[in-house]
Amino acid sequence: MAQQRVLTGITTTGTPHLGNYVGAIRPAIASSSQTDVDSFLFLADYHALIKSQDPEQVRQSSREIAATWLALGLDTDKAVFYRQSDIPEITELTWILSCSAAKGLMNRAHAYKAAVQANEEAGEDPDYGITMGLFSYPVLMAADILMFNAEKIPVGKDQIQHVEMARDIAQRFNHNFADVFTLPEAVVDDSVAVLQGLDGRKMSKSYNNTIPLFLGEKQLRKAINKIRTNLLEPGEPKDPDDSTVFQVWAAFADEQETARMRQAFNDGIAWGEAKKQLFELINAELVEARDTYNRLLDDPAHIESVLRKGAERAREHSVSLIKKVREAVGIASMA
Ligand code: TRP
Repeated sequence: MAQQRVLTGITTTGTPHLGNYVGAIRPAIASSSQTDVDSFLFLADYHALIKSQDPEQVRQSSREIAATWLALGLDTDKAVFYRQSDIPEITELTWILSCSAAKGLMNRAHAYKAAVQANEEAGEDPDYGITMGLFSYPVLMAADILMFNAEKIPVGKDQIQHVEMARDIAQRFNHNFADVFTLPEAVVDDSVAVLQGLDGRKMSKSYNNTIPLFLGEKQLRKAINKIRTNLLEPGEPKDPDDSTVFQVWAAFADEQETARMRQAFNDGIAWGEAKKQLFELINAELVEARDTYNRLLDDPAHIESVLRKGAERAREHSVSLIKKVREAVGIASMA
């Protein structure tokens, strides 16, 4: 069967939360189990260095993210699961691509532009606090993608531009040197929920409104109780479409259960009761994986060995690709 190569990276800063689970992890694991998908998933730990200068945070987050994917049942015999920094060819390719990627293209990257704008608004030098890492971020990401001839890149809306830049960079390289790279395409799945956080805005670490995925039961219950609601009393009808409790419910429940809760809202279910049911629903989905997660965190050697095996498989591709790239640009043996 013709397989499509699908590739995703996860930046290793922070602890996975319910929004990451619903929006990225759950769909990626489901997709990776399909027979027509050839899945590459990796910990983008070099990307983490752009955002975090805290070694312990990067280490801890890498462990947590790896344990999360494994605990949730990622099949690492099928998907190639690796750590970016275990693939030296990626950084090598980053440099080579940097030498043909246009600086003007990088000037237009949203993340970089936002940082410059924030500086200007604060009356600072436009370059204040901006590293070369932040500026070149799209080239590193292009190397991640082009290294494995990935065709489809599932991303959130904020990353579309980066995939388009990777495509641009690939096209330019293919035109200037040799036809080495597959042109990647971003895939944005609109059917995947963007989860709301405690305050009703998008659940995101930058808003400090997240619910970590593998909180213990008690803490999970507490966190769910903190989801913002209004002052309507038990018995008063509540608008499900204006409620974070309902929105999160719908991301975890099947159609039938969602319809039932919608009715319960119309019938005036008490907020306390709705939250209690929400806790039970989420907890039931995560209870087993949480156990596995905690066991894995206590066994970093196991995680390490899984990642090493993944890296070996990934390098079967990267070693031969970088050879072609080096030849194409004139870095070659003289003998
Ligand atoms: N930059 C992405 C993010 O912050 C993570 C990432 C790094 C990535 N390399 C990638 C995503 C390659 C897809 C493909 O979300």
